[in-house]
Amino acid sequence: MIDEKTLAEAARKTSLNAYAPYSKFRVGAAVLTDKGEMFTGCNVENATYGLASCAERNAIYNAVIHSGNDVKITKVVVYTPTDEPTSPCGICRQVIHEFGENVEVISVCDGPNQMRSTSNELLPKAFGPRDLL
Ligand code: THU
Repeated sequence: MIDEKTLAEAARKTSLNAYAPYSKFRVGAAVLTDKGEMFTGCNVENATYGLASCAERNAIYNAVIHSGNDVKITKVVVYTPTDEPTSPCGICRQVIHEFGENVEVISVCDGPNQMRSTSNELLPKAFGPRDLL
């Protein structure tokens, strides 16, 4: 059983691998699947700035790669190197929504505060896979 402390520590550790030469903002994420597996990701930037891919998205894609294309995400823990927790960007909210019904999203940082939300709170009335069935 992988607990939130383990996910948060993995997110923080993975942020050290971030490729962030432009923003210098190193982010890490760890996701938990409905099978109890953990996958991590960090942000990867590009000289063409708009191509930056966030830690949350990369962690989810890592889960798809290693767990299979039927993977469901139940939790996302994102670490940012900030004093206060920050919330996932709009693109990541849409990607989180794609892979879970009501995912718990927990933001952690260098300070003591955490921010907790669900994917439905972060992206209400989202367009999702069900709309295409
Ligand atoms: N970033 C993330 O990886 N996740 C977030 O939740 C916020 C932003 C990345 C994107 C970019 O590489 C850098 O942080 C600055 O925005």
